[in-house]
Amino acid sequence: MNIQALLSEKVSQAMIACGAPADCEPMVRQSAKVQFGDYQANGMMAVAKKLGQQPRQLAEQVLQRLDLEGIAEKIEIAGPGFINIFLDKQWLAQQIDATLHAPRLGVASVEPQTIVIDYSAPNVAKEMHVGHLRSTIIGDAAARTQEFLGHRVIRANHVGDWGTQFGMLIAFLEKQQNENHADIALADLEAFYREAKKTYDEDPDFAERARGYVVKLQGGDEYCRVMWKKLVDITMTHNQKVYDRLNVTLTRKDVMGESLYNDMLPGIVADLKAKGLAVESEGATVVFLDEFKNKEGEPMGVIIQKKDGGYLYTTTDIACAKYRYQHLHANRVLYYIDSRQHQHLMQAWTIVRKAGYVPDSVPLEHHMFGMMLGKDGRPFKTRAGGTIKLIDLLDEAVDRATRLIAEKNPDMPSEELHKLANIVGIGAVKYADLSKSRTTDYIFDWDNMLAFEGNTAPYMQYAYTRVLSIFRKAGIDENTLTGSVVLAEEREAALAARLLQFDETITQVAREGTPHVMCAYLYDLAGLFSGFYEHCPILSAQDDTTRQSRLKLALLTAKTLKQGLDTLGIETVERM
Ligand code: ARG
Repeated sequence: MNIQALLSEKVSQAMIACGAPADCEPMVRQSAKVQFGDYQANGMMAVAKKLGQQPRQLAEQVLQRLDLEGIAEKIEIAGPGFINIFLDKQWLAQQIDATLHAPRLGVASVEPQTIVIDYSAPNVAKEMHVGHLRSTIIGDAAARTQEFLGHRVIRANHVGDWGTQFGMLIAFLEKQQNENHADIALADLEAFYREAKKTYDEDPDFAERARGYVVKLQGGDEYCRVMWKKLVDITMTHNQKVYDRLNVTLTRKDVMGESLYNDMLPGIVADLKAKGLAVESEGATVVFLDEFKNKEGEPMGVIIQKKDGGYLYTTTDIACAKYRYQHLHANRVLYYIDSRQHQHLMQAWTIVRKAGYVPDSVPLEHHMFGMMLGKDGRPFKTRAGGTIKLIDLLDEAVDRATRLIAEKNPDMPSEELHKLANIVGIGAVKYADLSKSRTTDYIFDWDNMLAFEGNTAPYMQYAYTRVLSIFRKAGIDENTLTGSVVLAEEREAALAARLLQFDETITQVAREGTPHVMCAYLYDLAGLFSGFYEHCPILSAQDDTTRQSRLKLALLTAKTLKQGLDTLGIETVERM
């Protein structure tokens, strides 16, 4: 049930009957305050202006034609011409009953689209860092959300697995193998990369060999391919452990690294030249874009092929967008990449559009995010100033959660403690990220994210178990609830109305790629449930009808919390 969509439809019909154009915007929104009802239609002002009418007058006419029989118990005009809609309690009650029995919590089915989601994208022979953590967590929530709505999601892990550094990496892997007569575990990717670079800088023979390997690898040489693949495999095996621990849905088959587009690059450059978009400039091949100005105020030149013949990150992203449209048949492509790469993407896509590789009807969306900062407001680093390894971060989260839970439950068996600490600790790290508006930087703070109060994973996970415990304590099977929902108390009606807004919430999250909207909704829902639970006795309700009805509200709350957290990739437990 999408109440906003239903009311929008009704209000726009009434507006059209009053002479508004067929595409008029009723602007139906959830009301910010209870005295304004459940929903407000704010579109009268703009439309009245177009029609040359007084907004209030238009609102009055619309009101006469607005048929919300059985849906609203009161409709009134407020201020300059807002229409406040108060939903009918009996109608809300019926919708709760219907939603309880509907598949997917009554969320309307969508026209399925193919949505490609570019996320995580770590680099080969390097540790994933905190920037990749944000991309991984937020991108995965987006993938889960779109899939829940019924879209076909293609996860594209744009791994940095190509480039001139591979000559050096292959040469170093070879050196290590020769010295140790065994495959190294590449346990410490950072150290491996650092050592490789050092050897490259200090040993001219090594550097010579490395340069040779770059050329050979690009020419498809078998030995170099095998060595390259080994580097990719080791890195991705390592990263897969991080994904699994994070309860992220990415697998090896989602890897679509930069190397995938390598064969397309010469064709792209030739085509852009043929189309007159790319020109030779000082030996390199460059696309000059009027849309972007350089410091001198002249059209900015974007290099797509270097003087030495090498291609660039931008060239790959041009090919990649083309591939996603032409081969994957994407209807929409979402990129979860940090905001510092915004200009890079805009340039690549401007070229993509000009070349006609992806039509305007297929959106390419940069769902950017800010940086993860330490408590001091500076980029998140170890005390020594190094990058924080993700795996260490996750270990610390679980350690901290273990201590917290053990303190509260000294008698918990160790196996249960271990399992719970994982779910709470990892959940806390993920939820802390997901609950903040992604476009801004955010402060990583252990104490906040592990608090059992506030908009945190432990609070939400605990809220869920609290609802379930009502059923467990009384030994009630949720499948045996009878009778219809009755909403006699304001708190019951408020909870019911909010429960029915799950559809609107998830639709918004899917449209904007903003998981924090889901977090805010669930947090609000948990708060409304608490108020309801305190003031409206459930098990000791005065009569069985009320008791059954309240149990149904509790049941739908539990289901909604679980489903909502699930779309975010946050696990729940039955008790904690
Ligand atoms: N590997 C890149 C990095 O670590 C991110 C790639 C993002 N995706 C893309 N299509 N450019 O910065």
